[in-house]
Amino acid sequence: MDVIIKTENVTKIFNPGMSDEVKAITDVSIEIKRGEIVVLKGPSGSGKTTLLSLIGCITRPTEGRVIVNGKDVAKLPERFLTGIRQKTFGFVFQQFNLIRCISVIDCSEVINQ
Ligand SMILES: Nc1ncnc2c1ncn2[C@@H]1O[C@H](COP(=O)(O)OP(=O)(O)OP(=O)(O)O)[C@@H](O)[C@H]1O
Ligand SMILES: [Mg+2]
Repeated sequence: MDVIIKTENVTKIFNPGMSDEVKAITDVSIEIKRGEIVVLKGPSGSGKTTLLSLIGCITRPTEGRVIVNGKDVAKLPERFLTGIRQKTFGFVFQQFNLIRCISVIDCSEVINQ
């Protein structure tokens, strides 16, 4: 089976070097194959959302590589990440992040213009 998502030794530090620095995940390496259903579980604060945000190209790793469909996305410029997010992922945020005045249909009409 194809590996569609891979992380290699990924570490994410929020606010590096500051007094409120947080090492959210350290040295995470995973592989997800096409068609696999994967559950990520762990206590609150263990870094689940951080890892999903890295895979979903919403945040960038401090160290390591995030590979989506064979492409190392960690170092791509933002304009490429926008396209990958749009075409590759369906992402339900923990806090939903819905925009009240726009429906999914309105949004897809804008995207497809
Ligand atoms: N944007 C941020 N800035 C600073 N620290 C952050 C940020 N996002 C997450 N953290 C910290 O990183 C660590 C991991 O948080 P994360 O939200 O990934 O955990 P989680 O496993 O999803 O938790 P929960 O089960 O509560 O959703 C926590 O210590 C959290 O406070
Ligand atoms: Mg979370």
